[in-house]
Amino acid sequence: MYCPQFCNVQTGSWRKYHGILVQDIFAKAKKRNQLNAGKTTRNAKEANFDKQKGLRKINIKCIPERMIYDVTDTGRKYGYGVRGSTTNVELVFHTDNAFAVRVPDYVGLLCRYPAKSGGLSRFCSLYTVHERMEARYPAELRRLYQPMHFDRQAEHAEGAAKTSFAPFFSWSGSKLRCRANSSLVRKGYQVHGSEMDAGLVDALRAVDDVTSSADLWIEAPLERGQVQYLNNHELGHYRSEFEDGDDPATKRHLYRLWHRSEGGVNYDG
Ligand SMILES: [Fe+2]
Repeated sequence: MYCPQFCNVQTGSWRKYHGILVQDIFAKAKKRNQLNAGKTTRNAKEANFDKQKGLRKINIKCIPERMIYDVTDTGRKYGYGVRGSTTNVELVFHTDNAFAVRVPDYVGLLCRYPAKSGGLSRFCSLYTVHERMEARYPAELRRLYQPMHFDRQAEHAEGAAKTSFAPFFSWSGSKLRCRANSSLVRKGYQVHGSEMDAGLVDALRAVDDVTSSADLWIEAPLERGQVQYLNNHELGHYRSEFEDGDDPATKRHLYRLWHRSEGGVNYDG
């Protein structure tokens, strides 16, 4: 055995060298149960568990989604089954996962790298959006309390409905609940293969008009290392189109987390 750092090869004995005994290293590794680790196990305990007779293998199949999600431009074209968060396109004011069975309560973002240009974040109060709709578009607001189709962006179990059917606005006690995403509703009707009623066409146009007022939002850049947390029911957010630099290692990359206080720990909650 040749181990210039830890033993004296001339005598071949386990000697103290640089103050460390090789026996100690093995003893510590043994203590940590690492010596018998197999190819697919991290330590002897796991390896021994796998050696048990009569064990059965169960394959778990789930919707391809990660708990920590990479928000970055993959170069794919925005369209059915390709979420805007994996492209560099402009994303209109929205709540995250508006098409969900159970909409996440909070959205967290950690910025690894911002874009070379663009990718600005804007935030608005959905209470204010609701107030302005009430003042300027009361008939259109009423339609937003009726259900509509949202494109589920192919993020559902095989054979499940491609759209969810839910209202844009609802209340939970005195708390506003919102599935804000006019773009996903328009896509939802395309995917569903049906026409939007005239009232819905007008209502979505009214939402786009209200959310295009510059006095509605605040703009806040997300710099490298910064974290942003949003109440996903009460705040809408927007992202401008962006451009990455030449170095792929430093392209815009955010880590995203969704949090729910109720429901199961799975994609649909
Ligand atoms: Fe978002």
